[in-house]
Amino acid sequence: MTSYTDKGEKPERGKFVRFHHLTFWVGNAKQAAVFYCDKMGFEPLAYKGLETGSRELVSHVIRQDKIIFEFASPLNPGNEEMGEHFIKHGDAVKDIAFQVEDCDFLVQKARERGAVIVKDPWIEQDNYGKVKYAVIQTYGDTTHTLVEYLTPYKGLFLPGYHEPLFRDPLLPKLPSGCLSFIDHIVGNQPDDQMVPISDWYQKCLMFHRFWSIDDKQIHTQYSSLRSVVVTNYEETIKMPINEPAPGKKKSQIQEYVDYNGGPGVQHIALNTSNIIQAIVNLKARGMEFLSTPDTYYDTLREKLKTAKIKVKEDLKTLQELKILVDFDDKGYLLQIFTKPVQDRPTLFLEVIQRYNHSGFGAGNFKSLFEAIEKDQDARGNLTVLTADGNPKIFK
Ligand SMILES: [Fe+2]
Repeated sequence: MTSYTDKGEKPERGKFVRFHHLTFWVGNAKQAAVFYCDKMGFEPLAYKGLETGSRELVSHVIRQDKIIFEFASPLNPGNEEMGEHFIKHGDAVKDIAFQVEDCDFLVQKARERGAVIVKDPWIEQDNYGKVKYAVIQTYGDTTHTLVEYLTPYKGLFLPGYHEPLFRDPLLPKLPSGCLSFIDHIVGNQPDDQMVPISDWYQKCLMFHRFWSIDDKQIHTQYSSLRSVVVTNYEETIKMPINEPAPGKKKSQIQEYVDYNGGPGVQHIALNTSNIIQAIVNLKARGMEFLSTPDTYYDTLREKLKTAKIKVKEDLKTLQELKILVDFDDKGYLLQIFTKPVQDRPTLFLEVIQRYNHSGFGAGNFKSLFEAIEKDQDARGNLTVLTADGNPKIFK
């Protein structure tokens, strides 16, 4: 595991401020939004569709504290771009939007350095304010929308969005999700694409390396991965980039890439300041999380005996909830992963709480992998690989 201290060049102008929102392209935006509201504690924030004059695209926007997800679907037959995206990826993250300062400069810089600009800067406004946007291509079919507020925006979400059509009376009766902001968003890449993609962020968006881990450090008996985390100058946006590494059996990263039809967002980590309450509540709401064997907690108790830090939370409670712990000499993090949130074994979510620890749970990758591999095996995808990396046995 490597942490980096060199933040690279400070951009002379322009700034990436934070994750603004995520846009999912899904078959049925209305139903997808309900799933995240019911199971993960989000609430409807804004809407556009036929009733608001949006004739082609429907969009349901939901929010929990600073986390905003938008679910979009085509309204009419024959939307080829969204149709093809759906055929290839199923329900998936299409866009990761960043709030920026000086959108024009950032686009110009990205273009000079070879980025594909999907949409040049344009402005949208309504009675509540004025916003500049641009869209840049990143890995696979994923894009980054840059969002710059030209005036403080006083509306619900962004220009053109209206009040939600419906507020489910059930939602206020459910316990809070306790989730506050997007901690990091992970992109899975096919073989040998991790370095070119992390280089792209460094070159085109002026990000720098924050953290990395190679396959000598992370592997189970079966599968393996490599990961590089890139971040903006202020280190407010963390983007781990993964690739599969050869193992005895198919890597879970490769399983993702196979089912997603190429690179894409693998998981979204949501930060909480009270993971115990969050997981008690999310489980009560019916969210499904990966399990961890009790032996994990036996090992953890042993390791903590000689650790320089003390975990404040009751270990018995963490064990009951299957929350994982990773630590170093200065701090620790608590994390847990959901099962995939659609039928394809692609996107899942993470809930994370940090105490003076800015890692990504490397110490837990092994147990996480073992938990995922149990499910991967149940799906018939934990295939044995031959020396040339091809599957030998299909169950
Ligand atoms: Fe993560």
